[in-house]
Amino acid sequence: MEKVLEVKDLTVKIGEKNILTAINMTAYKGRVLGIIGESGSGKTMLCHAIMQSLPAVAQITEGQIFYQQENLLNVSAAKLRAYRGRHLSMIMQNPSTAFDRIQTIESHFRETLKAHFAMSKKEMRQIALDAMYKVNLPNPEQLLRYYPFQLSGGMLQRVMIALSLAIQASLYIADEPTTALDTVNQKQVLTLFDRIRSETEAAIILVTHDIGVIAELADDVAVMYQGEIIEYANVYDFFDAPQHPYTKKLLQSRIMF
Ligand SMILES: Nc1ncnc2c1ncn2[C@@H]1O[C@H](COP(=O)(O)OP(=O)(O)O)[C@@H](O)[C@H]1O
Ligand SMILES: [Mg+2]
Repeated sequence: MEKVLEVKDLTVKIGEKNILTAINMTAYKGRVLGIIGESGSGKTMLCHAIMQSLPAVAQITEGQIFYQQENLLNVSAAKLRAYRGRHLSMIMQNPSTAFDRIQTIESHFRETLKAHFAMSKKEMRQIALDAMYKVNLPNPEQLLRYYPFQLSGGMLQRVMIALSLAIQASLYIADEPTTALDTVNQKQVLTLFDRIRSETEAAIILVTHDIGVIAELADDVAVMYQGEIIEYANVYDFFDAPQHPYTKKLLQSRIMF
């Protein structure tokens, strides 16, 4: 298995309070690392720490974040900018905040692609169309001309994933990507991640509070509780032989059909 991202002993504080404590985890190429934990356990902060987009009040006080052998905490701002968006891509919980309401979908693709590649408008358009086909968006040509408010939440979420696909990131970090969606769209987005896993060279970190999503998609599982990873296992061991009392409770509370 090829490591894409490795987090070592990462501690993040806001003031005196530990938001994350000694986090260790690894994301591998072609695998989905599922992160599960209740609201407030630090899942989103962990994603932002990896992307280096923590709120200004939060400080990384310890640890390393290796992206292909390079500690992201030591690279220059310019290099970080180049990595972010190009190699590391975050798909957020609420797609509407990720879009600029006065820009068409096509200009979102252009801005994203222009930031990392030298391409003609025609090439950019083709890549945008291909990415939109991949995520099963209907009428991509027409969608390119639309503004974000003209699309449903489910469609916007898929456009956001298409934007990530267009740049062929090596790590996708998806923070509760299905939480704001109805059941049909949830299913489609999960199927899409499954395809990204099998058809690209990427690693996926998938954050959820839904154990069903873990069961369906994760290869490895990290359970977060109050800023710590209290259980870390492959998905089979996670369901068959949970170690921590909190994980056992989590699994018991799941209604089995
Ligand atoms: N901007 C912020 N300022 C201060 N505290 C924050 C901020 N964002 C999150 N927190 C705190 O950090 C902790 C982890 O939050 P978060 O990562 O959003 O949890 P989760 O995504 O698991 O629901 C919580 O205690 C939350 O109150
Ligand atoms: Mg969150």
